[in-house]
Amino acid sequence: MRTQVAIIGAGPAGLTLGRLLETAGIDAVIIEQRSADYVLGRIRAGVLEQSSVDLLRRMGVNQRMDAEGIVHDGVELSFDGDMLRIDFNELIGRRVMVYGQTEVTRDLMDARIASGAKSIYEASDVQIHDFAGETPRVSFTKDGQTHQINCDFVAGCDGFHGVSRASVPDQAISVFERVYPFGWLGVLVDQPPVAEELIYAHHERGFALCSMRSHSRSRYYVQVGATEKAQDWSDEMFWDELRARLNPDIAERLKTGPSIEKSIAPLRSFVAEPLRFGRLFLTGDAAHIVPPTGAKGLNMAIHDVTELATALNEFYGERSKAGIDAYSGKVLENTWRTERFSWWMTQLLHTFPDSGDFGRRIQRADFDYLGASRIAQQSLAENYTGFRP
Ligand code: APR
Ligand code: PHB
Repeated sequence: MRTQVAIIGAGPAGLTLGRLLETAGIDAVIIEQRSADYVLGRIRAGVLEQSSVDLLRRMGVNQRMDAEGIVHDGVELSFDGDMLRIDFNELIGRRVMVYGQTEVTRDLMDARIASGAKSIYEASDVQIHDFAGETPRVSFTKDGQTHQINCDFVAGCDGFHGVSRASVPDQAISVFERVYPFGWLGVLVDQPPVAEELIYAHHERGFALCSMRSHSRSRYYVQVGATEKAQDWSDEMFWDELRARLNPDIAERLKTGPSIEKSIAPLRSFVAEPLRFGRLFLTGDAAHIVPPTGAKGLNMAIHDVTELATALNEFYGERSKAGIDAYSGKVLENTWRTERFSWWMTQLLHTFPDSGDFGRRIQRADFDYLGASRIAQQSLAENYTGFRP
């Protein structure tokens, strides 16, 4: 089999890249190790920056998003119950769209099926060969048979645990990492959200987040220790802990019910450098991880593959290598800017076991500064809604 671009992974990064290349008339095959149902079973954050919304619209995968997504003008922050609303629209004239990542993935998958573009699911033992040269290959096993795809480029869109980054020799790549000593215990519930906007709450018992998937389905999180297990948390324990971390009036309004999903996600900041190795490119979670505070993971992945699609388009259209040569530098600039913001929101809002009373006073000072300074609020708004220089 032959294609121009072999895309490893059918998460949001791989599917978005597939759609962009298809629109540009560049042939691509997606190779995914899991089944489509498995991919759609993963529950992740759900806040889209305006630029992500615009891209989904340009790609023509916006029908359901525009019908079901909820536009938010701002977010609420809470510090030991004291509330502060950050009104993005009033501060900088921008908004975000709340629409689940799972739904974005489903829309992209449906569009790919409708267009007949090739995807191979349940491919095992995926291997990338000869990407240092001009003629890379991808091999994999499917239904007991080994297959090979010859291509011009390989796009590593296979997430943090994928084969793409792992295929790069150790001496060719540097990684920068911070693992946080806690995770987020998340619960999905068929109840209306407690508030119209998201609430990010700091409390001495730990962080909490009130989010939503629709007007009748809510998503809540509480910070828990890194070694805790979701099965040790009954629904009752979860709701009690969440209420304890919120402003009392909000806690009273909280509508609870049986959880329809409950899981723990660890928190990590991670960046690989560089992001291009000959004819192999890293994108999305294969290239970097942010903690979910700020909901940047999907938006970063969309940013990366937009850059990559532009670079590949330039290569095929104009026979220019300028775009692919600039890819790594451009994406890393956005990556580090977004890493800084996600790290900052994380350190403002969580309880850190080792930072003591001094650390908590600094967090309070940070929150009070935000409350007092319009410029500080604009900075938060600019980063949360997606800063593009
Ligand atoms: N071969 C083929 N596919 C693979 C392999 C492999 N060896 N390893 C992993 N994959 C697949 C995974 O099964 C998954 O479907 O690659 C896909 C990667 O998808 P994501 O992990 O969703 O990563 P990405 O597309 O970069 O999306 C980034 O999604 O993961 C969230 O929080 C993340 O919001 C961020 C966004
Ligand atoms: C979510 O809805 O799952 C969500 C929202 C905002 C975040 C993280 C997760 O920052």
